[in-house]
Amino acid sequence: MRCITTLAELSALESACLVPTMGALHEGHGSLIRLAAATGAPTVVSIFVNPTQFGPGEDFDRYPRTLEADLDLASACGATACWIPSVEDLYPRGVDSARAEALEMALPQVATCPGLEDRCRPGHFAGVAQVVARLFDLARPGSAIFGEKDYQQLRVIESMVESDRSGENRWPNLRILRGPTVREPDGLAMSSRNRYLSEAERPQALGLSKALQVAHAAQRPATAEQLMRETLESHGLAIEYAAVRDADGLQPIEDFRRPARLLIAARLGSVRLIDNAPATIWR
Ligand code: PAF
Repeated sequence: MRCITTLAELSALESACLVPTMGALHEGHGSLIRLAAATGAPTVVSIFVNPTQFGPGEDFDRYPRTLEADLDLASACGATACWIPSVEDLYPRGVDSARAEALEMALPQVATCPGLEDRCRPGHFAGVAQVVARLFDLARPGSAIFGEKDYQQLRVIESMVESDRSGENRWPNLRILRGPTVREPDGLAMSSRNRYLSEAERPQALGLSKALQVAHAAQRPATAEQLMRETLESHGLAIEYAAVRDADGLQPIEDFRRPARLLIAARLGSVRLIDNAPATIWR
């Protein structure tokens, strides 16, 4: 596996399958890399802790940076190359001006739908959309893969690429692929932030996956939301949202006549956890 740090080296890998990451790789990333490798295209894993998607007081400084282990995992999962872009490559005018530019970007509606991530992390998806667009512009991948674990992020990126086709057409042939959430044997969704959890907090964190389990077959969205809230509270989690939304636009719904998604964000001390699952009943 090659380790790429310059744009000149990257240009040789045009049309690859890109796996954008912020490092601190775990088996969830491993499964994305294996899916990318299975497409038959060269697999490029980008590793960049993007400052513009972290708000003031969030964990940018303490975000785990584990490059050596990341390179080992990416290689073992079949990556052709790891691309470690510099801040200058991604943000030639500097991070401060990138932050300001991100806030000017037109975002798909799904980024700002009420009551979800935008309420808790204002500006977060502007930073994500900005860095992902920049990674696409520089790497020119044929496909890119994102995990369902960050479901709203996945929908933002899918919508961004769909609307690009009818607008600027910057990435005309780019396909966005979805990777299923990978869970620990006890149900906890794998996340780079799980390593912040203490041993005592670990059983409490299971409240998220348990909430999804108890709610996923509820007959009505309102019942599912109530069941999720009760389960999260009984695990001592501070709820940011526990919502049932339509699976595409993530708008509130009153019934299950269309595919729906259960979405949760909750806090355990200073650790923020998210999880989601499809609602399995719709008619
Ligand atoms: O999901 C992530 O790790 C990040 O949000 C992404 C997509 C790599 C952009 O920085």
